[in-house]
Amino acid sequence: MVMMGKALVWLAVMSFPAASLAAGDAERGAAVFKKCAACHNADKPENKIGPHLVNIFGRKAGSVDTFQYSDAMKKGGEGGLVWDEKNLADYLSAPKKFVPGNRMSFTGLKSADDIADLEAYLKSMSQ
Ligand code: HEC
Repeated sequence: MVMMGKALVWLAVMSFPAASLAAGDAERGAAVFKKCAACHNADKPENKIGPHLVNIFGRKAGSVDTFQYSDAMKKGGEGGLVWDEKNLADYLSAPKKFVPGNRMSFTGLKSADDIADLEAYLKSMSQ
């Protein structure tokens, strides 16, 4: 019985960070989104300095037709770039590297947790 108790504690400790990495926390993500909110709406399809991010998952890069994208971002989409979890995480961690020549003035998010939380938030804003 003592052994089993230890194993259960170990399991609880080990599974927590994995779960939070995979799923992300939408509430924390809302706080992370403050870094984006000067330039992006996530709750309504209206552009600011950047294109709106409603239903961003599964959306082709550079495809909001009311927004004037850079050639770099348009070419990305024409070349098959679609915003899924992986591409968005790569873009947000190093925007200038992932889409060279794109016009987003943002240095990038360093924390993988912040990105996962932000993605959970953006999903919660999508239909
Ligand atoms: C200083 C303004 C600014 C900030 C801050 C900013 N962005 Fe952007 N973002 C832009 C602009 C401008 C573009 C369009 C880039 C282009 O056309 O090259 C863009 C493009 C994007 C795209 C591609 C959208 C599409 O339709 O292809 C995504 C996704 C994105 N931003 C997410 C974010 C997120 C998430 C954050 C916060 C972590 C953020 N941005 C912070 C200005 C900004």
